[in-house]
Amino acid sequence: VTDARLGLVDLAWRGPAADAMAADLRAVLGDGRYLLGERTEALEAALADAIGVTEVVTLGSGTDALIGGLAALGIGPGDEVVAPAFGAFPTAAAIVAVGATPVLVDVEPSRPTLSLDAALAARTARTRAVIVVHLYGVVVDLAPWREALAGTGVHLIEDVAQAQGGSHRDGRAAGAGPGTTFGALSFYPTKNLGALGDGGAIATDDVELALALRRWRHHGIEGEAHVVASRNSRLDELQAAWLLRRLPELGAEVARRRALAHRYLEELGDVVGVVDHGAHGAPHLAVVRVDDPEGLRRQLDVAGIDTGRHYPLALPQQAPLRGTAPRPVPHAEEWARSVVSLPLHQRLADADQDRVIGAVRAARPSPPALT
Ligand SMILES: Cc1ncc(COP(=O)(O)O)c(C=O)c1O
Repeated sequence: VTDARLGLVDLAWRGPAADAMAADLRAVLGDGRYLLGERTEALEAALADAIGVTEVVTLGSGTDALIGGLAALGIGPGDEVVAPAFGAFPTAAAIVAVGATPVLVDVEPSRPTLSLDAALAARTARTRAVIVVHLYGVVVDLAPWREALAGTGVHLIEDVAQAQGGSHRDGRAAGAGPGTTFGALSFYPTKNLGALGDGGAIATDDVELALALRRWRHHGIEGEAHVVASRNSRLDELQAAWLLRRLPELGAEVARRRALAHRYLEELGDVVGVVDHGAHGAPHLAVVRVDDPEGLRRQLDVAGIDTGRHYPLALPQQAPLRGTAPRPVPHAEEWARSVVSLPLHQRLADADQDRVIGAVRAARPSPPALT
């Protein structure tokens, strides 16, 4: 008997969750209200409560959460926004989308997150914001960032797309960290809190910013007048109904992800580099670093195990972002050269994780030769 193929994620829904969604679908159809209704309102209140902020504004995607948030802060042409040179493309693309200049700086050598020293060194008089990305679900400690940026007028923004359910050292939720202007969330299906399609949100304590975003997502309308030329970017009532059902499960699912990530660290830490999400992280991706990532992927593929690469290029190596790194980003490039993502999701069984661990060890990988 051949073992079933192991996917990087498992996004199929059957049984009670699917039945509940079928009932929600009928209820939404019966109401005949598809946007900005009571389910969206209830979801925003539940998320605000869970994150510990006064305002959550849902939007059409995590990318739009970043774009709308930057736009609502009045960030645009002539402004610079500092962000990590290694990570997901949409973080940097959002800066480009508002007409501002992305300044992509290096990450830490041993953590996949923005280096505070590199970010401070890249600051200029035009810097309006720094976007810290909690990549893979590794939550960056923002206390030193708040101290360094206090009184500068530079906004601290948290990209929480990959870290929903994680927390800061002081116990505040990711997205509501010390000194943060807003947190941007994504409900892309693979994320820790995933919708059945695209979705996103902003979490903030800034009532004015939330108001501006409510206008921005709805054609810039205020009363009868359009006061800004903006977009439509709204989560729909079906997604809100689904996310309202999923949110109460997030804590237990993050705990399971933490246990699995910790086990990869314990069982593989002696043969490859393993990203440590820490005690408060919310593991989204299980990432190991090796000398020959494609070689390891080929061997795991033969063993029936899906893998991924998040991400095979540093962001300034992507064509639309060339020229956005003011200085070399060697660590970002080293991360890009060495990473392989292993299966990680809350339904991954211990026996299946054993298969992954066994197959990685059998491939006899070497850790990356770091320069
Ligand atoms: C770090 C990060 N930021 C932003 C986004 C954008 O989110 P979305 O796919 O919901 O637009 C993603 C996911 O794609 C992400 O991983």
